[in-house]
Amino acid sequence: MSDGARLNDYALSVEDVSIRFGALQAVDGVSLQLPAGARHALIGPNGAGKSTFVGLITGTLRPDSGRVLLGGHDVTRTGFSARVRRGLVRSFQVTSLFSEMSALDSVLLAIAEREGRSARMLRPLGRYGAFVDEAGEILRSVGLIGVAKRPVSDLAYGQQRVVEIALALAARPRVLVLDEPAAGIPAGESTRLFEVLEGLPAEVALLFVEHDMHLVRRFARAVTVLAGGKVLAEGTPAHVAADPAVQDAYLGRRGAGLHA
Ligand SMILES: Nc1ncnc2c1ncn2[C@@H]1O[C@H](COP(=O)(O)OP(=O)(O)OP(=O)(O)O)[C@@H](O)[C@H]1O
Ligand SMILES: [Mg+2]
Repeated sequence: MSDGARLNDYALSVEDVSIRFGALQAVDGVSLQLPAGARHALIGPNGAGKSTFVGLITGTLRPDSGRVLLGGHDVTRTGFSARVRRGLVRSFQVTSLFSEMSALDSVLLAIAEREGRSARMLRPLGRYGAFVDEAGEILRSVGLIGVAKRPVSDLAYGQQRVVEIALALAARPRVLVLDEPAAGIPAGESTRLFEVLEGLPAEVALLFVEHDMHLVRRFARAVTVLAGGKVLAEGTPAHVAADPAVQDAYLGRRGAGLHA
């Protein structure tokens, strides 16, 4: 394989990436390193460049300059599926395709995808029982085993978002990237979703975009603050929340207060 040598030991290493949309420098020389087991939050005011940065990591966008490495391998010029093979997973949207299916069947389909087979090819494999067991295990780990056989569309919105986490876990990620996983979920349910994330396998490196500083303080061990496409601050949640530059960046935007 023309994989090239491993260049470092980080699960994810983003080196000095930039991307411009016309006159707008949306991401401007941002670097970020995640070791295995990271629980890293990406925060910043609206329009800071967080989703754009996530797109550069997942491969929906290519940087104008800089590099993205997964497990030490340069994936900057590769597409999404090559990055998935390197262990990168982002949250799936539970689309209408999935929503009529049960959570169990959805997770089975995601396992089939991981195994490179269509779902109806799982059954003759002889490993079908093992895959059903695995899907059950995943759904138990995220607290959905009790509703595993109900159509996803019947579940509460917060539970549907947890199904998305279950689908991501079925891919056995080494790096999991979630852009506002709790968006639109009632407060109590979003805590539950983050408790699911807290229970992820210890070696998985997690990067999540989250606006709620309470959730960031509780669940992130490290934080990067973006503003205007640049890193404004990084460190522990307490450290960045106390940073006057961070507080200014949030206060400058109506309705985007930093709830520390
Ligand atoms: N495809 C695009 N073409 C042109 N401009 C874009 C594109 N995608 C994003 N932008 C602009 O880039 C800037 C950063 O957007 P981005 O979505 O990354 O911000 P964000 O930090 O995720 O914000 P939010 O908190 O609102 O989700 C914004 O000014 C946005 O309008
Ligand atoms: Mg965004």
